[in-house]
Amino acid sequence: TDLDSFIRALPKAELHLHIEGSLEPELMFALAERNGVAIPYASVEDVRAAYAFGNLQDFLDIYYAGADVLRTQRDFHDLAAAYFDRAAADGVVHAELMFDPQTHTDRGIPFATVIEGLLSAMADAQARHGISSALILSFLRHLSEEAAFETLAAAEPWLDQIAAVGLDSSETGHPPEKFARVFAAARAMGLRLTAHAGEEGPPAYVYQALDLLQVDRIDHGNRALEDDALVDRLAREGMTLTVCPLSNLKLCVVDDLVNHPIDRMLDRGLRATINSDDPAYFGGYIADNYRAAAVARGLTRAQLGQLARNSFTGSFLPPDAIAAHL
Ligand code: ADE
Ligand code: ZN
Repeated sequence: TDLDSFIRALPKAELHLHIEGSLEPELMFALAERNGVAIPYASVEDVRAAYAFGNLQDFLDIYYAGADVLRTQRDFHDLAAAYFDRAAADGVVHAELMFDPQTHTDRGIPFATVIEGLLSAMADAQARHGISSALILSFLRHLSEEAAFETLAAAEPWLDQIAAVGLDSSETGHPPEKFARVFAAARAMGLRLTAHAGEEGPPAYVYQALDLLQVDRIDHGNRALEDDALVDRLAREGMTLTVCPLSNLKLCVVDDLVNHPIDRMLDRGLRATINSDDPAYFGGYIADNYRAAAVARGLTRAQLGQLARNSFTGSFLPPDAIAAHL
């Protein structure tokens, strides 16, 4: 079979997906219209043309602005339903969705509106596509520790429907240590833990995520490769890295996919996975990410199979469900 069919047919879990980052320009326009929200773009082509980023912050500015069209429970439902349709077409059988409640609650959208819309789409995805899914509540690291605690408190009525907490947004200058106490509180509440680390930030931030946050996964982790002792430790501990090739390219974490470290990660014994991060902004969903990495790095089918298996091993599914996918 050709590469594309092989990739789509591989059962995969998506572990690093910001649901707000799956907002396609077409839906952005439709929601702007439906909600009477003005957006600073004349057309869908105009939106896509704005998606040229020099770094993470360039992207985040546009991503937070785009999220302003999301207002009602139906908007959040429609957003996630569109993602699940794409994921199903790509052979995703399990998806762990990050959402950024503060992006919405800070504009007066109730936490309940956001999460109920997402949960209804997740139930539909199970029924319509047979896709299981979980939610990861991500704290915005450019905001305060106190704001993160308030967000965790707002989530309490839905605790049994949230798998984990995460940490995203502007990495540089906002080290994991800033959130050590709120991560400890989340852990005490029975939640799993993940954090973006080593995307733009230094290896020291990856060490902090491990030692101070005690994360179960690292999102990205690219810059861990600068530190041999850290690589050995991540491999020894079986730590999952949720790597996002097209994101790395668009945010200039790598200069060219030809130099992407995905296969070096595997060769070093790291439990790397492939994910889409913000597919509407970075030019592709999960199968596009597998394909782009495979072509650029000449990945073998054995390596692609390993990446897909790692996505289940590294998931927040219960052990029996993980075993059933391997
Ligand atoms: N929020 C959405 N995508 C992100 C990324 N790649 N890094 C940090 N924060 C994000
Ligand atoms: Zn991310």
